[in-house]
Amino acid sequence: MIETVHDSRILIIDDEESILDGCRQALEKSGYSVTTSSDGLAGVNLTREIKPEVLFVDLKMPNCSGMDIIENISREMPDIVLIVITGYASIVSAVEAMKKGAYDYLPKPFTPDQLRAVTKRGIEHRRLKVEAEFLREEKARMEKNFITFVSHEMRSPLVTIQQYIESLKLISEGTLRPEVAEIIQRCEKRIQSLHELIEHWLDISRIENGTFSEARIALDLTEVIERSLDEMFPLCQRRGIVLASDLKDGLPMIYGDQESLLRVFSNIIGNATKYTPPGGRILVCTDCDDYYISVSVSDTGQGIPQDKLPFIFEPFYRVRGKQERQRGSGLGLTFSKKIMEAHNGRIEAASKEGEGTTFTMKFPRAYDR
Ligand SMILES: Nc1ncnc2c1ncn2[C@@H]1O[C@H](COP(=O)(O)OP(=O)(O)OP(=O)(O)O)[C@@H](O)[C@H]1O
Ligand SMILES: [Mg+2]
Repeated sequence: MIETVHDSRILIIDDEESILDGCRQALEKSGYSVTTSSDGLAGVNLTREIKPEVLFVDLKMPNCSGMDIIENISREMPDIVLIVITGYASIVSAVEAMKKGAYDYLPKPFTPDQLRAVTKRGIEHRRLKVEAEFLREEKARMEKNFITFVSHEMRSPLVTIQQYIESLKLISEGTLRPEVAEIIQRCEKRIQSLHELIEHWLDISRIENGTFSEARIALDLTEVIERSLDEMFPLCQRRGIVLASDLKDGLPMIYGDQESLLRVFSNIIGNATKYTPPGGRILVCTDCDDYYISVSVSDTGQGIPQDKLPFIFEPFYRVRGKQERQRGSGLGLTFSKKIMEAHNGRIEAASKEGEGTTFTMKFPRAYDR
């Protein structure tokens, strides 16, 4: 039975006219639109002109190397499915051609059915490739639209609600019943959490899309950590937690983005304060060896169960348990990990349930800058 295939353009480059004629007849019967060329260079020009779905190339032609055609076309027009026509003796060169970008090979002599089968496979391969590419583009478009949606459709009304609540408080200053004032305060807290979640979410999407703006400069990590300690100190005091540090003198500089690293340290120290009960202690240390500069944040909090540790850097993951009383989006560590990776560094956690947790961030030393 002969299947009819519409709109599939096939180009065959082979120096033997009899092969070209035979292939044309066999493929046209199946409904393919076939163009042939008995000259390598003319064939390459035809390829550029008609952009076939499938291109057959004879590897052995007198004045032209089929291998060069394969190599160049696969680089220049990667959407074209390349199939090499080879003699029985040249399976090795067929393998070589496939390494250079050919999809399949057809050994001489071949029957019309073999030719049609390999063509059909090539067309199907191309269809799947085009479909996969379309889906990839669609996914990228959806992600981009999603970020726009989150930032415009969710962030803006949230800011407006926050402003309304502010106005409500101003208008009714001192006249609200305590239980009403408390409800308003709860609303404010929830809105603030939602706001933080959206900001985190947007930042993570921006990092993934490569649109997160970072300014790489030579910076002193000690200064960034000290800024973060200053920021976190009042919160620790309020919670009755001791915040101590042991920072090594003369730490080498690193290249990085000050603001995003500040947020990483504040996230990690913030977590330590969130998940450590009053009376606990947080210690921030720095150190360096020949390869790395490391920053560790240890707490005497409730710790993370061993079986949960592998998941804590996953988006939205939160350990369920006693600390569930604490609010959070489960995005802080995801953000921190991505920022560390963007600095060619890494972040690791070690923990003992009931005793405490240590987060260690390692930055590679940059000798040759
Ligand atoms: N120092 C810590 N001690 C105990 N558990 C921790 C500590 N740091 C993180 N965790 C656990 O890891 C989870 C993920 O942390 P992550 O910072 O990503 O989210 P979060 O703190 O819940 O929310 P947010 O996005 O507001 O930071 C936390 O919910 C908590 O269960
Ligand atoms: Mg957190």
